[in-house]
Amino acid sequence: MSRTSELSGFYKLTPQERAQFVKEFAGLTGEEVGILQSTGSLKLELADRMIENVVGAFPIPLGIAVNFLINGRDYLIPMAIEEPSVVAAASYAAKMARSKGGFFTSSTEPIMIGQIQTVSVDNPYGAKMAILAAKSEILKKANEQDPMLVSAGGGARDLNVKVIDANSGPMVITELLVDCRDAMGANAVNTMAEAVAPFIERITKGRVYLRIISNLATKRLARAWTVVAKEAVGGEEVVDGIVEAYNFAAADPFRAATHNKGILNGIIGVVVATCNDHRAVEAGAHAYAARMGHYGPLTVWEKNKDGDLVGSLELPMAIGIIGGATKVHPVARVALKILGVKTANELGEVMAAVGLAQNLAALRALSHEGLQRGHMSLHARNFAISAGATGELVDLVVERMVEERKVRLDRAKELIDEFKKRGKM
Ligand code: MEV
Repeated sequence: MSRTSELSGFYKLTPQERAQFVKEFAGLTGEEVGILQSTGSLKLELADRMIENVVGAFPIPLGIAVNFLINGRDYLIPMAIEEPSVVAAASYAAKMARSKGGFFTSSTEPIMIGQIQTVSVDNPYGAKMAILAAKSEILKKANEQDPMLVSAGGGARDLNVKVIDANSGPMVITELLVDCRDAMGANAVNTMAEAVAPFIERITKGRVYLRIISNLATKRLARAWTVVAKEAVGGEEVVDGIVEAYNFAAADPFRAATHNKGILNGIIGVVVATCNDHRAVEAGAHAYAARMGHYGPLTVWEKNKDGDLVGSLELPMAIGIIGGATKVHPVARVALKILGVKTANELGEVMAAVGLAQNLAALRALSHEGLQRGHMSLHARNFAISAGATGELVDLVVERMVEERKVRLDRAKELIDEFKKRGKM
């Protein structure tokens, strides 16, 4: 049978019809199709309205990180993530941070940048002046696109114009600065950028191509900091180890990438749980980490005069609590209720605190006892389950693998057979 993936009208089918097609194409069993379509709290019809060509939904675990004290308020933190240890590590670090009052946070106004690219301009610097002179007209046109945002206190606030040197010659880049309030803002900003583009083309006599939000959201920053008593982290030597781990990341982009990955483990868990756009947050984080011209760590760890550990984190935080999928996905709605945040800024600050906690836990483990010890039983549990263990057998297999320090899938399989033979199960 010849199979082709070139399909016209696939999008017009129902999720069931699409799944039938995929079943035949990939030789799925009925049970496998059932797995795709057992979508839990996200109903198939709703999923089908969220994206295109839906055949099912993809559940991932939702855990609650505990112990978070942020600006004097206790939070429970929902995190959606497939990686073992992350939720436990965040909770552990949050507990250490309580020693001196937990986390403190702040943020800038929720301003996103929309870029409008103009090429083939005879006199780019003259065009820049012309655009700046038309600022109030451009902002007015932009704000006409989103009366709702304006009535909520947001809207286009300002604009920058820069001339950049591209491969093809100079380009005039107009940047609309839009206060997005509680929305992530991509829709609002893109609509505004598209709306003002013809006007910019007219006054510059150039040609506009791209009109799109920038994910390097340097005007929408979230910040978190904490002081952790040296006794709470395990003594001054552990504090020194964490500071040296930070110094390593500050001096070496290979380490900084992993360091930042650990921060994002925490942040993205909350971003996904609230159905925000994690790609936008990740892109912003990594670009911000390279803003000095070299890639570096997003956090800073220092020792104060008392020998305590001081950590801080600042990063772009393009997230929302209205619009997009946040208010559509039923689990995201519950996650937001658990968080009890009132504004997107508050959510962004909570995420920054979680990122800082996650980094603290990772650096402490890495510089102190190594990561694997703490991780071993969680990995062992995953291997035991993947190898087919259920019920009590999971614990028996985990215990043995950790004891033997052989945490592997093949060993889990052997142990399952051994326990079964011995009639343990
Ligand atoms: C693993 O997901 C994250 C860490 O590698 C982060 C780090 O190395 O800092 C533990």
